[in-house]
Amino acid sequence: MPIKVHDKTFDIYLSEAEIQQRVKEIAETINKEYQGKRPLIIAILNGSFMFAADLFKHLTIDTEISFIKLASYKGMKSTGNVVTSIGLDAELYGKDVIIIEDIVDTGKTLYNFLPKLKDHHPASLKIAALLHKPEATKFPLTLDYVGFSIPDKFVIGYGLDYDGRGRNLKEIYQVV
Ligand code: IMP
Ligand code: MG
Repeated sequence: MPIKVHDKTFDIYLSEAEIQQRVKEIAETINKEYQGKRPLIIAILNGSFMFAADLFKHLTIDTEISFIKLASYKGMKSTGNVVTSIGLDAELYGKDVIIIEDIVDTGKTLYNFLPKLKDHHPASLKIAALLHKPEATKFPLTLDYVGFSIPDKFVIGYGLDYDGRGRNLKEIYQVV
């Protein structure tokens, strides 16, 4: 069933079960790769809050989580300006940091933000993105964990919004 949000129509693209299965798989990989370590998860708000929470629940290793807020989007278009509105208060020095992003589109947000994180000298730095739009990505980024590679079409649901709406959907929907 298509749904309407603001002026756009969206069709279901990824089911709740598909998302949950993939999130669990990523968590299991992290559990293996970080055995004996204590990674610091940094979730980028707002979009990644559901992914971060579900992923975090499946982590069985010793771990910590912290949240920061960055934004470069307004409506369906990137404004190109990355704004940090909630700062980085966790101590990163010597930590194994894993960044959690909802989606990497142009890659600009993370590309601009990574040097700021590296200034804090974490022991290691990896990126987990639930969604990646490879055709749209223009900034060189290495994504260590990717949930789904998707076409360059706007999506909502599972934390992702269209002008504030659609975040509460359990599935991911693609614009028609
Ligand atoms: P980037 O800087 O172009 O990679 O965009 C990254 C941010 O834009 C993501 O963290 C999202 O918050 C937002 N974004 C990009 N594509 C979409 C989309 O299809 N739906 C909703 N938000 C998106
Ligand atoms: Mg985001």
